[in-house]
Amino acid sequence: MADTAELRIGDKTLSLEVIEGSEGERAIDIRKLRSETGHISFDPGYGNSGSCRSAVTFIDGEQGILRYRGYPIEQLAEHSSFLEVSYLLIYGELPSAQQLGQFTESIRYHTMIHEDFKSFYSAMPKDAHPMAACAAAVGALGTFYPDSLDPLDPRQVEISVHRLLAKFPTMASYAYKHSIGQPFMYPDNTKDYVGNFLQLMFGTPCEQYEVNPTIEKAIDLLLILHADHEQNCSASTVRLCGSSQVNLFGAISAGINALWGPLHGGANQAVIEMLAAIRDEGLTAKQFVDRAKDRNDTSRLMGFGHRVYRNFDPRMKIIKKACFDVLGQLGVNSKLLEIAVELEEIALNDPYFVERRLYPNVDFYSGVIYTAIGTPDNMFTVMFALGRLPGWIAQWMEMHDDPDFKIGRPRQIYTGATERDYVPVGQR
Ligand code: CMC
Repeated sequence: MADTAELRIGDKTLSLEVIEGSEGERAIDIRKLRSETGHISFDPGYGNSGSCRSAVTFIDGEQGILRYRGYPIEQLAEHSSFLEVSYLLIYGELPSAQQLGQFTESIRYHTMIHEDFKSFYSAMPKDAHPMAACAAAVGALGTFYPDSLDPLDPRQVEISVHRLLAKFPTMASYAYKHSIGQPFMYPDNTKDYVGNFLQLMFGTPCEQYEVNPTIEKAIDLLLILHADHEQNCSASTVRLCGSSQVNLFGAISAGINALWGPLHGGANQAVIEMLAAIRDEGLTAKQFVDRAKDRNDTSRLMGFGHRVYRNFDPRMKIIKKACFDVLGQLGVNSKLLEIAVELEEIALNDPYFVERRLYPNVDFYSGVIYTAIGTPDNMFTVMFALGRLPGWIAQWMEMHDDPDFKIGRPRQIYTGATERDYVPVGQR
């Protein structure tokens, strides 16, 4: 028999069901709370609120565990590829060789964007942030494909999903090419997903672009590690926005904007800017850590801390190792990496960070790799978005299949003025 929790409010006792997930985490089902007691729950930041049942990703923040569909991130990072992980997240199981082949072919087939879409970029200033351009471009996909926007039609969803995964690298690279005044490249469908993205970003029509396998592998790894992270800020945004039954492109566009903020995916750009500032201002790592601890200083140690991980972020461990491997293989000597390592060491031994259980997160070392392979700082969060696409898609699809599906609509505790009479402007 399921456990119950009892809640006593005044002389009324409410019996609430306790539900349990497949990994033993437990939740009190408060869906009857308001109708039976007139009270609502209050949980700013949602640190104690489960918004859905989900079978996509499991995180144990105490133990530093991350699994997609049950598979440990370490195994996927070592053996899988980004497209295979995308399939796994979206469809729930690892694909057979044939399924993976068909999926890959379908993504390849959809990489081009409509020629008219290119003029969309020329309407933007050269210094437009590529995250703003990408969010707008993904939303604008809906204008080109009105035939496949119904979130309740499985065939239309399938086409939109494949279009989005296939076209995002093209659209992201066009945001970058526009900013530096280079011609847009056509996708090269003979290349793999990441190889194609690299040539879209760094190739020019004047010469043959050779994909560097070290870089290709490193980016594929980073995409895998960013592919999902359960109900984080952007995934929850995709779900909340999508709960109005808006089309996939609209919901993902909202997620891209949520990701952009420096407390979320924008942290990867903020980290590299922090490292560069330390280098350029001639600060010591210790001086910066002292600033980050100072309540009167707005600096934070970017790339440190996490709402869920309170021990270590397993993605960071893999990325840190990859960082040394990739920079070693490319023969890059990075002052930024030196500063990052020093910051990490000082912070991990500082009581402020130890007591608050703040550890380096996924964003702490990723930017060092992006910089080493020539990615401009303002494209880092776009790389994160590219990786996160399959996770957002999987969360959005799962929401629509959920028998508990409802439009998202939180309540509030109103603290404003109580009723008062309107005063005409001349009497105020
Ligand atoms: N530097 C200095 N102090 C920090 C930091 C930091 N990076 N992170 C948290 N703290 C302090 C914070 O000031 C607070 O101190 P006090 O208890 O004295 O008021 C305490 O630690 C708890 O922090 P919080 O802000 O209440 O924790 P949160 O769970 O609400 O926020 C976080 C989590 C990730 C937003 C936050 O740790 C942070 O701002 N980190 C820096 C930005 C960052 O790296 N973001 C990427 C997160 S991982 C990838 C992703 O989600 O995209």
